[in-house]
Parts: sequence; structure tokens; C-alpha cells
Amino acid sequence: MTHLKTKVLRFDSLPSTNTELSRLASEGAEEGVSVVADEQTAGRGRLQRAWSSPKGAGLYFSILLRPKIATNYWPLITMMAAVAVYDTLGEACRLRADIKWPNDLLSGERKICGILAEAIETPGGRAVIVGIGINLTHDAYPSELAGVATSVSEATGRPADRETILAGLLRWLAHWYSLLNEPAGPESIVNAWSSRSSYAFGRLVQVNNGDEAWQGTTCGIERDGALRLRTTTGEKKLVRAGDVKTLRPAINDGAASQDLQDEQDYHVNPETS
Ligand code: BTN
Repeated sequence: MTHLKTKVLRFDSLPSTNTELSRLASEGAEEGVSVVADEQTAGRGRLQRAWSSPKGAGLYFSILLRPKIATNYWPLITMMAAVAVYDTLGEACRLRADIKWPNDLLSGERKICGILAEAIETPGGRAVIVGIGINLTHDAYPSELAGVATSVSEATGRPADRETILAGLLRWLAHWYSLLNEPAGPESIVNAWSSRSSYAFGRLVQVNNGDEAWQGTTCGIERDGALRLRTTTGEKKLVRAGDVKTLRPAINDGAASQDLQDEQDYHVNPETS
């Protein structure tokens, strides 16, 4: 069984925790080395977007993994990280979040956490930097994103304690990462993800994948993390990359946030920060 030994390196300010950890990995850093910064001056999000990272407003965290699983299962690494964040927010903040495929954490359909995984070549072999940004207060995101972003303190009505969240995150990452590396790891992660996400089944979504866009209903997750979609024209698609936007809120589901009724704008939900 893999036991992830974590070691946290702390910084006041960095351009990006992912960039710093990538540098350390290329110098031979071990699996489990993590970087946390109070602020990022050039925080990066998916799809070349910037990730707003003002001082003290978010948890800006990256961890180095050197997975042993076959590369076709590597998409499960970010889904594993999303499950770990979900469990952390539940335990540390009593916040029941939702997960939008593949790895955005939402509360009341608004984004509360984003995850950026980057595969890199290092002298010790292929590695992955998993970067996690959790909005702790409303200062974490620009005010123009208030309709599509939220933070732990807004979602819970209580102050968010970064150190408690970080400690929980390290524990849950160690737990789920060690399960991922077991022979039945892919099933464990797919099942854990599906039971925590209102997007696994029966959500009407639009998927934008480069030049293509499909609308359809979600029908579960493949063993490698692909999203099964039945399109409105009756085709079956497996989505392995792309942006998912909800076309309808989750109704009365077990996994979605309880704050859902408060959300006014149920329509196509643009990607946030
Ligand atoms: C997304 O676009 O949803 C992913 C956002 C990931 C942000 C985190 S913050 C810590 C780490 N460092 C970065 O530059 N990005 C990630």
C-alpha cells in the first residue's frame, strides 16, 4: 500500500505554487512535497486562465505525486484530488459541496475550488503537480465573478481557517491517493467521485470540447474517468476533455449543495476564475 509522506514548504509570496513545485521536482524533490503560499502573483488556472490569488484570501497549494498507475488512468488523479477536497470541506468546514466533472468544487452551483494538474518529466521519471486553489473569503475572486464564484466563509457563514483546511487536505489526499494506487483504485475513485457529484448521472449539460459542443444528459463515469453523455440527438459520447456547463440545476439530489435554492441564475454557468 502506498503511504504518502507529505512535507509542506511555506512561502509568503510566489508567482505560482505549481511553478515553484515543478522547479523543485526537476531538482529531485520526492513524492509528497507540497508548497503553500500566502499569495500568488501569477496564479494559473485551467485553459491558460489566470487564478486570482490575493494575500490571505485563499489556500494556494500544490503537491508533487509520482503515480505508479497506468497513464490511461492519470485523469483519475485530479478526480481523486477533487474527492479529497470534498471530504476536507465536509470535515473541516461542515460544507457539503458538489463536484462538477472533472474536478471543480462547487457550492450552490458556484465555484469554490479549482484544481490544475500538470504532468512533467523529471530526472526521477514522470510526475504530476496537483495545484489546488480554495477560495476562503470573497476577496479570493474578482467581484465580477460573484455570480459564479463563492468562498468557504460565504458558503458556511463562518470564518474559514486555512491551517485546519490544509491539515485535512493533506490527510484526505494521502487517504485517496493510497487507494488510487491499489489494484481496485480506479473503481474506488470513480465510485467515490460519483457518490459525491450531482454531475455523475442525469444532469443536462453542455460540453465544449475544442471545436465541438454537445448537449446531453450525463450517464455515469467510465473506469478511466471519462464522462458518459447521451446527447439530445440520442448519440452516446465519452467526454475525456472539455468544459462542462450545467443547463439545469440539480433537483433534489443527494450530492448537490444545500444552498442550491438560493441560486438565482440557473442557466449556462460560465467557467469561473
Ligand atoms: C482552475 O482553473 O479551475 C484551476 C485553478 C487552480 C489554482 C491553483 S492555486 C494553487 C496552484 N498554483 C497555481 O498557479 N494554480 C493552482
